[in-house]
Amino acid sequence: MGTGGCADYVSGVEGTIRASAAGKVILLGEHSVVYGRPAIAAPLSGLRATVTLTPHPGPLHIQAPAVGIDAPLPDLPSDQPLARIILLTAEHYRFSPPRAVLRIESQIPVASGLGSGAAVSTAIVRALAAWYGVRPEPGQVSALVYEVEKIYHGTPSGIDNTVIAYEQPVYFVRGRSPEPFSPRFPLPLLIADSGVSSPTREVVGDLRRRWETDPTHYAALFDRIAAEVEAARRAIEAGDPPELGMRMNRNHELLREIGVSSPVLDRLVEAARRAGALGAKLSGAGWGGNVIALVDPLAAEEIERALREAGARNVWRTDVGTGVSKTGRVADHG
Ligand code: MEV
Repeated sequence: MGTGGCADYVSGVEGTIRASAAGKVILLGEHSVVYGRPAIAAPLSGLRATVTLTPHPGPLHIQAPAVGIDAPLPDLPSDQPLARIILLTAEHYRFSPPRAVLRIESQIPVASGLGSGAAVSTAIVRALAAWYGVRPEPGQVSALVYEVEKIYHGTPSGIDNTVIAYEQPVYFVRGRSPEPFSPRFPLPLLIADSGVSSPTREVVGDLRRRWETDPTHYAALFDRIAAEVEAARRAIEAGDPPELGMRMNRNHELLREIGVSSPVLDRLVEAARRAGALGAKLSGAGWGGNVIALVDPLAAEEIERALREAGARNVWRTDVGTGVSKTGRVADHG
């Protein structure tokens, strides 16, 4: 995995530090990745969480307008996710939280499967490290963020913090070093927000209870998903979009079988396919959140329209290419 530090995501002017982190999208393998099977994910470099640290007397003051927080750090419970990542980072680098205002702004919709929590945590680690002149390795950032993912998710696989901290497309197996992948062709994706929130912790917990009652059944389904992920990886490396699309379609059917889809997600998937997508599936934890569609760029507009007509709240376009993806908003109906 590349080891480029975090300097590219950090800037500073007159004592103010600004750091950011990308959202993420899971291309294939969500949920089964929690049970040791492989998954593929990519950063959404154009959709970011940003943290600004501005010098200010007194204890670190947190401003996160999107979640209604405007308070000094000592007033937040220590297991509150923002407080936790700040305290963990300070402890890790052996410094005291700075005398500053830490302001969080994010373009990433919350609870939609696009990694907003992990991106905010990553941007906080990068900003605090920069404040103290440290250049953390992505692996360190990922490990710190993972600790906070446990608060959000319960039993996270680690894929979200990994893809966001490294900001590269990855093939990921829990407990192993992440492997970057280089598509032979850009992957033009539409990301459609159902507008329904995706409660990762509950969906993952619900699946775990069902898995506990019938582990053999679910293990077989996870193995079938793993086979789709492996075939998708070969399709990405070989430059075969129709094959990749077919694998995404099959992955969605298996996600339905494990009980993490919903009527609204199935409707969006169906609309994308009918309008000509090469493949479409839910992405992330499911029940709500987002659907992704692999598209021919010439058909993107038509498919985007079909997704909106089927009820998508927002639609983003991203090209997962060779290393960097750009995300542009093609529609905003929020
Ligand atoms: C959430 O983005 C992905 C899940 O597979 C959970 C995890 O991997 O921790 C649903």
